[in-house]
Amino acid sequence: MADSLSTRGRSLDVGAVGIEREGLPPFDAGPIDLRRWFATDRVALPLEIEIGSGKGTFLVQQAALTPQVNYIGIEYARAFWRYAADRCRRHGLDNVRLVHTEADLFLRNYVSDACLRCVHIYFPDPWPKKRHHKRRLIQTPFLHTLARVLEPAGDVRIATDHTGYFEWMLEHVAAVDDLFEQFPFDTPRAAGEGELVGTNFERKYRREGRPFSAMVLRKRGQ
Ligand SMILES: C[S@@+](CC[C@H](N)C(=O)[O-])C[C@H]1O[C@@H](n2cnc3c(N)ncnc32)[C@H](O)[C@@H]1O
Repeated sequence: MADSLSTRGRSLDVGAVGIEREGLPPFDAGPIDLRRWFATDRVALPLEIEIGSGKGTFLVQQAALTPQVNYIGIEYARAFWRYAADRCRRHGLDNVRLVHTEADLFLRNYVSDACLRCVHIYFPDPWPKKRHHKRRLIQTPFLHTLARVLEPAGDVRIATDHTGYFEWMLEHVAAVDDLFEQFPFDTPRAAGEGELVGTNFERKYRREGRPFSAMVLRKRGQ
């Protein structure tokens, strides 16, 4: 991921926000009750996941503005996971946990059916070369996993700067038309004036004048 990480000499402390990959149970132990990652008075609150949190900019902004929602960020690059967890800890966000793991593995093995209100996917790595397309996050089995873990009428919210990847997403979504209904993207509270979402990559790409594409996929059914 081409983004710089400067801590200006500060040492990072993931505190209670950061969940280590090594601390997760074995894959075959069944789903985790993710609500238990939060304080007792927060277990009944809606749960949302962000995949690929990067420096944690979306989570820091969105979680502060929506304290009645619990958020789990998933980030597989250790340096970014540590940076984002430290940042959320310093902001005193008790509604955020950041887990150092791969998103597809995490959702498939640890997340129970219909427990998430929303999954946020902002500026996922586009893997532009054809031979790397198999590394893209959005794949048909992954869309089935998203539909399984979302509550009825739960949302997947996606934004990207990469037109080719967006077309790929639309093709894959069309192939599982029974799972999701597509809606226009509405700006989250995290977004600043004139922003779509308000992430680091959005800000960087906006300066470069790149066009953005975004959509909401709402899980069908009761
Ligand atoms: C292009 S960056 C975008 C970061 C942030 N969402 C933003 O908009 O600033 C993509 C991020 O997703 C992470 N990532 C990519 N694939 C992942 C996966 N399968 N599981 C967890 N993290 C992933 C990368 O390490 C990187 O931090």
